[in-house]
Amino acid sequence: MSRQRVIVIGGGVCGLGVGWKLAAAGADVTVFDRGKAGRESTWAAAGMLCPQMELRPQEEDISALGLESMKRWRAFAADLEADSDIPLHYRDEGTLFISADQDAAEQLRFLHDHQIELGMPVEWLSGAEVREREPYISHNVVAGLVCLDDHHIDCRGMTRALAEAFVRRGGDLREDAPVDGVVVDDARLTGVRVNGEVIPADAVVVAAGTWSGMLDGLGGDVKPPVRPVKGQMLMLRQPDERILSHCIWARSSRDFCYMVPKADGTLLIGATVEEVGYNKDVTAGAVLDMLRAAWGVLPSVYDLPIIETWAGLRPASRDGAPVLGATDVDGLFMATGHFRNGILFAPVTAEDVAHAVLTGETTATIAPYGLGRFAA
Ligand code: GLY
Repeated sequence: MSRQRVIVIGGGVCGLGVGWKLAAAGADVTVFDRGKAGRESTWAAAGMLCPQMELRPQEEDISALGLESMKRWRAFAADLEADSDIPLHYRDEGTLFISADQDAAEQLRFLHDHQIELGMPVEWLSGAEVREREPYISHNVVAGLVCLDDHHIDCRGMTRALAEAFVRRGGDLREDAPVDGVVVDDARLTGVRVNGEVIPADAVVVAAGTWSGMLDGLGGDVKPPVRPVKGQMLMLRQPDERILSHCIWARSSRDFCYMVPKADGTLLIGATVEEVGYNKDVTAGAVLDMLRAAWGVLPSVYDLPIIETWAGLRPASRDGAPVLGATDVDGLFMATGHFRNGILFAPVTAEDVAHAVLTGETTATIAPYGLGRFAA
């Protein structure tokens, strides 16, 4: 029997993750990226694996998917490191959510109680208990939550590792190669069009992030409703004597930021959430807001050098949940719309979408996230 020929459109965490799993299972896989692999929202992400921190009221379904993916993350990271020889620097000290005033502490209490209702492992901390864990945190901070099961990884290392593992498993990675569209014949996918040439395929996975809905040949029923939601971030360098060791989310009545200390001594601070189309400018106001929020709870950031600033575009679907698995077009699959959780959802996306392509079966884990839900 000939090998299944699969084309993946998009070389970010979703496309490379699915491509890696398919190639490891013996499929003949090509990943096309319109630019350099992983250089859009994957590169821009902070690498947080935080299903509890990301919990929003009315979004329990998304949290359930996040918790399931989180259970798989350590094994996913170990396999990826073994296949690429590139470290992901998995950090598991846990994550703190701190409040810089009484108003924010009340909101934190609500989040704490909601997490307890859902049976999540969370602990309430006084301001003094926060400072026992993080001595440089300001005395303004009146309370905190600790979520020991919320972790983080080096996102850029993960991007390199996915590309390396995919190629080592026999995958063909084509960069600077935009796909114009998909070719569909009588509700059956037959290939993709690249630079005017039709490349035949048994299956195609659309993993093009915020560009996923723009491919020619996707009719109304199979066009994923994704839009860009901009996030600006900055990177500082910590001194040799670190001022922060946990991933921190910090809220006051007027400010919010998260701070993610990486193994290499960098400290990421993010992120804005902006609906401004495909604009990726870094703005003075956003940097001011994020630094003010960080400085309000960790005054020592004042002296740290800024190494880099950037903006990424989160691919948000109409209901904020990812779009995963088979579609009404035979042979056409989706792995897109991951919004705030692209890195967290990497294991379920890679494993369960690859499973759908290889077997035609949809796992119970991704069944609620099919494209068909938007038609209804
Ligand atoms: N998950 C973090 C963010 O989207 O900013």
